[in-house]
Amino acid sequence: MNTFRKKIAERVSSAAASQFGAVIDAGELIPLIEYPPDASMGDLALPCFKLSRILRRSPVQIAAALAPALGTDGGFSASALNGYLNFRIDGSALAGEVLGRVFAEGESYGSPADGAGKTVVLDYSSPNVAKPFHIGHLGTTVIGHSLKKLFEFAGYRCVGINYLGDWGTQFGKMIVAYRKWGHRETVERGQCDALVELYQRFHREAEEHPELNDEARAEFRKLEHHDPANTELWKWIVDISLREYEKTYRQLGIEFDSYLGESFYQDKMPAQVRRLRELGLLKTDDGASIVDLSDYGMPPCLILKKDGSTLYPTRDIAAAAYRYETYGFDKAVYVTSSAQSLHFAQWFKVVSLMGYPWADRLVHVPYGTVSVNGEKLATRTGNVILLKDLLGAAIDKVDRITAEKNPGMDPATRQKIAEDVGVGAVVFYYLSNNRIKDINFVLEDALSYEGNTGPYVQYTYARSCSLLAKCGDVPLPQTYVIETEEEREVVKCLAAFPERVAAAIAAYEPSYVTRFIIDLATAFNRFYHNCQILSAPDPETVRTRVAITRAVNTVLGTAFSLVCLRKTEQI
Ligand code: ARG
Repeated sequence: MNTFRKKIAERVSSAAASQFGAVIDAGELIPLIEYPPDASMGDLALPCFKLSRILRRSPVQIAAALAPALGTDGGFSASALNGYLNFRIDGSALAGEVLGRVFAEGESYGSPADGAGKTVVLDYSSPNVAKPFHIGHLGTTVIGHSLKKLFEFAGYRCVGINYLGDWGTQFGKMIVAYRKWGHRETVERGQCDALVELYQRFHREAEEHPELNDEARAEFRKLEHHDPANTELWKWIVDISLREYEKTYRQLGIEFDSYLGESFYQDKMPAQVRRLRELGLLKTDDGASIVDLSDYGMPPCLILKKDGSTLYPTRDIAAAAYRYETYGFDKAVYVTSSAQSLHFAQWFKVVSLMGYPWADRLVHVPYGTVSVNGEKLATRTGNVILLKDLLGAAIDKVDRITAEKNPGMDPATRQKIAEDVGVGAVVFYYLSNNRIKDINFVLEDALSYEGNTGPYVQYTYARSCSLLAKCGDVPLPQTYVIETEEEREVVKCLAAFPERVAAAIAAYEPSYVTRFIIDLATAFNRFYHNCQILSAPDPETVRTRVAITRAVNTVLGTAFSLVCLRKTEQI
């Protein structure tokens, strides 16, 4: 659409000169041209009240005078309504422009291409080892990965970091629980489940025997002082957990560039604490060391506990400094639940007070809570739904549906479809919501083949694949002639893709991409049902419609890859 925005702006600029003798630069007009709230008014609109001051006329007068002066040969027509100039873009002109670009640019069509030479570091997923990897982590995992894909698409160098929660008092608890009630074989066999069980048992027993908490603290302190037995046990627990997470990541198609977790920063914190002290930023409060943030309307940021041990913010500060030294990032993105918003605001402020030049390159991307079938999750009571179980349930269900629909399908194909569609359904359902909104996860809804779901859009993609497979080598038309509203809608949707991608990146909002996918899938399905494609009477029409299908296939595929959705050729 931007090409047409530019064209319209140029025409309006010269019409303003001819009608009113005014000089308005076309470049200033471009951002004023917006999408009308109701598409029946037009494809684009210019609210003329924004020109009232310069042209010294009422919006109604401006619109009425400019509309007829814009000409009819620019690939659009203009009409005046209530002080607005409404523009309708000619379908054929739009198709020529947009489809031409899709075929020329292929899978890079839509890329803002503004990231070359810049680096983004993304910190996401980052589960806490020994605690369950539950569906509360779905948000950080898939939003983070999708943002990485989006930035990569724009040409940035991206570094995906899984900042494992592999340090902290929970390891003291795990060590105590394992020594009291655990067995090596049971844990190796049961992996994370067995660890979580031990962790939960610790909490149950500690309610009656609070002295267990002291034991746990003591074991963690030993670990901090490199006690060999505890260190070995800690490594083993981290390893077992990591192996299991990797299975889930593989299902989701996610890879990380770094797994440096919290433990890695143990020896990097003293330098930061020293710097804070030298700068006079540390204050003692009831024995603890803090940075007072009352001038900024925030509670103090805790740096050292009474006993001198470090805290979550201390580690984050050390990690950010290390990442800057290592990667020289232009942006560092942290994706976590909004429950951690204050934590990030606090230490972002602290590093800015420390005078770090990269402080303003840090971005926190928060998201809302997840409940399942209306129930909130609680780790300690054991009322959790593990991410692997949710994905497993989705895969099983798709497998059953596919088996019913296609009893003759070979098991390997069926398994692949089940994975692609089951995992895709969960991811798509999650990413369909504005990230900050709380989500209630209902598997039935996510897996429905109707409605705005993963299976629906993957089905649409498969439909475009089979149509293209059927038509063989149909050449492109001489010129695109758009005859129906359905074709025009699809082309309009394709035209909006670059803007949607840019908006998704600017707002760190993958849901803009999922919404785009739904819009394009819906427009394509309407076109598919109402327009004859291969059987259209005129060969030029066949060519135009096959070209539209090809472009939809390419752009849907690109959009899928931005939101961790697999391209399904068969479903
Ligand atoms: N491990 C933390 C949690 O599960 C998330 C870590 C987020 N990243 C960070 N740099 N603090 O709550």
